[in-house]
Amino acid sequence: MSTLPDSATAVPAAANAAGEPGRETLLSVRGLRVSAADGSELVHGVDFEIPRGSAVGLVGESGSGKTLTCRSVLGLLPVGVEVTGGEISLRGTELTALPAAEWVRLRGTDLAAVFQDPASYLNPSITVGAQLAEVLRVKTGLARRAARSRAVELLHAMGLHRPEHVYTQYPFELSGGMLQRVLIAVSIAAEPELLIADEATTALDVTVQAEVLELLAELRRDRGLTLIVVSHDLAVISQVCDTVHVFREGSIVEAGTTRQVLRAPRHPYTLELIENHERFGIDRVRKQRSQR
Ligand SMILES: Nc1ncnc2c1ncn2[C@@H]1O[C@H](COP(=O)(O)OP(=O)(O)O)[C@@H](O)[C@H]1O
Ligand SMILES: [Mg+2]
Repeated sequence: MSTLPDSATAVPAAANAAGEPGRETLLSVRGLRVSAADGSELVHGVDFEIPRGSAVGLVGESGSGKTLTCRSVLGLLPVGVEVTGGEISLRGTELTALPAAEWVRLRGTDLAAVFQDPASYLNPSITVGAQLAEVLRVKTGLARRAARSRAVELLHAMGLHRPEHVYTQYPFELSGGMLQRVLIAVSIAAEPELLIADEATTALDVTVQAEVLELLAELRRDRGLTLIVVSHDLAVISQVCDTVHVFREGSIVEAGTTRQVLRAPRHPYTLELIENHERFGIDRVRKQRSQR
């Protein structure tokens, strides 16, 4: 019998529904192949489905193809790298065939992403509030004054204290965790359906990392945001995700519910990932998961 308080054992409705039959697929990736300019293949036929409202983890060591997979979905592959096979479909629309302009529109309204180094996505000489308000004006057509108050609201919703003050601050005045919250605000400004967080908490210390992950979980719970969380760190994935896909050398070697994969990994590589785990926390998460 579980001794955890109700609040700790209560699973949000969205998490309960994850993976249940009949749940609508938001994004489907089938047989995705990605190759470099010299013809060498970097991603070797990757398959996964993202149900609407779910949180799906992509885990694997550095260089295993997680970022190229996500950038394929976003239409943001590095120069010379291209999709050479497979299909990526968002609500039934095939993305790889889209003209570039259409993809730009999708990235504004349906797809969004946050990456590891938030400072590099902000202009150092403009206040974070003005930058967020500008994104709101461009992407949602709000007038200047309305964009400003919406920006303050969003900063508040991102868990930033004294949002009016934060609005007036420059990027260098904010900590890494605060900057990542600002970037999350920027990325969800146009209310996308899918947010890809690629190593978004990797540079943060463990406590701040957990807080930012909690924010992502909250956005999912409260706004129905669908999440793809990418990390080399299984503990990160296990904090937020219902299901996990394990990448190794450009392929997915194992997939399943997070609980299943953590408790009874089937692939030796997954076991290795769990065993090599140096970060404090994963044992606790595994225990909590096994009590549910
Ligand atoms: N622009 C590029 N040109 C050639 N190879 C690349 C490029 N970007 C990434 N790669 C290679 O593709 C593989 C997968 O990279 P990536 O998707 O970034 O891995 P991960 O995000 O899992 O760390 C790696 O071997 C990497 O060296
Ligand atoms: Mg990466």
